[in-house]
Amino acid sequence: LAVKSSLIEPDGGALVDLVVPESKRGVKISEAEALPKVKLTKIDLEWVHVVSEGWASPLKGFMRENEYLQSLHFNSLRMENGSLVNMSLPIVLAIDDEVKEKIGGSGNVALVGPDGDLVAILSSIEIYKHNKEERIARTWGTTAPGLPYVEEVITPAGNWLIGGDLEVLKPIQYNDGLDHYRLSPQQLRKEFDRRQADAVFAFQLRNPVHNGHALLMNDTRRRLLEMGYKNPILLLHPLGGFTKADDVPLDVRMEQHSKVLEDGVLDPETTIVSIFPSPMHYAGPTEVQWHAKARINAGANFYIVGRDPAGMGHPTENRDLYDPDHGKKVLSMAPGLEKLNILPFRVAAYDTVAKKMAFFDPSRAKDFLFISGTKMRTYARTGENPPDGFMCPGGWDVLVKFYESLQAE
Ligand code: ADX
Repeated sequence: LAVKSSLIEPDGGALVDLVVPESKRGVKISEAEALPKVKLTKIDLEWVHVVSEGWASPLKGFMRENEYLQSLHFNSLRMENGSLVNMSLPIVLAIDDEVKEKIGGSGNVALVGPDGDLVAILSSIEIYKHNKEERIARTWGTTAPGLPYVEEVITPAGNWLIGGDLEVLKPIQYNDGLDHYRLSPQQLRKEFDRRQADAVFAFQLRNPVHNGHALLMNDTRRRLLEMGYKNPILLLHPLGGFTKADDVPLDVRMEQHSKVLEDGVLDPETTIVSIFPSPMHYAGPTEVQWHAKARINAGANFYIVGRDPAGMGHPTENRDLYDPDHGKKVLSMAPGLEKLNILPFRVAAYDTVAKKMAFFDPSRAKDFLFISGTKMRTYARTGENPPDGFMCPGGWDVLVKFYESLQAE
């Protein structure tokens, strides 16, 4: 007997699934072979993955101009029935003059992966101008040189965007030993239902888990139990797509996260660890809306947000690019995210008196030590241990080994 899921509804009501069923694969491949080809970069392919599994539901492909403009100007999309869904980042595919020329008047194109394999069909296409400066300024609020996603993706990209409906020929895989962690929104929903979760709380991250992060997650669980939920499940959801060069690589983070569960910092019984396939923009309050929206589609109805989500240092000035409190403020008011329960948290830091990670208490500021990513790297590189209680020993070991391997290069 089919039990009706009690999970939060995906944006748009039904989860988008753009992977061609196996029975139609042969026909679709033949169709794709005959079409003009558009070559994807590694990061384009990550977006194909994201869209194909419905993380961006109800979006059904790369954005056409009307969707692009709504995303860029309103951080949201208006659906045919008049309701609004959040969509704060443009999900677009760029092409150059030469490819545009080659496509000519064709209504459909085939997308080819970085390794030359046929990946997808993009149909009922629309080609429009890629005004990079405007896209960058509106997405990041700055055009300062040195924004990682801009340098890696946008600057080298072509001056046209191509939108259309996506049909992916087979599920996207990376064959990096981590594919079993890459659960689609549909698979995650199944798993939450199987575990009979009555609340799902998501934690987005792109860094190793320290005990400050764990404090946020464990405090959330306690609050949900207090609210009367019987079986809240944590989705520990590291971002798996493009990250900047000095972030810890995904494989190392996954190993570190495993240790955090093994060492009992988080409870394996009530936690699901999975990879969120999106690339990272580092666009602060604009991007954190995307991070939250995508988790609605995966079945999360609670979303944890702390200090400076999706933030980074200003690329040319000695300060944060965004106000560290704006991410949680914006998220709590964001159009289209009303149905998501936002759980905002104060900054956590190392309390040198209690000798553990704790919520920062401004009345005794001098007792607190802020251990930044840079500081963590310095500890690991110099072989010095961080203060006791900052991170579980198993997790810390993974990082030390990683930084040692970097030095050996
Ligand atoms: S992010 O780019 O994925 O947002 P990160 O992995 O650093 O970056 O953070 C994951 C989540 O933990 C975000 O919600 C962030 O706000 C929160 N966070 C990170 N460090 C702290 C901290 N020291 N105190 C409170 N919240 C934090």
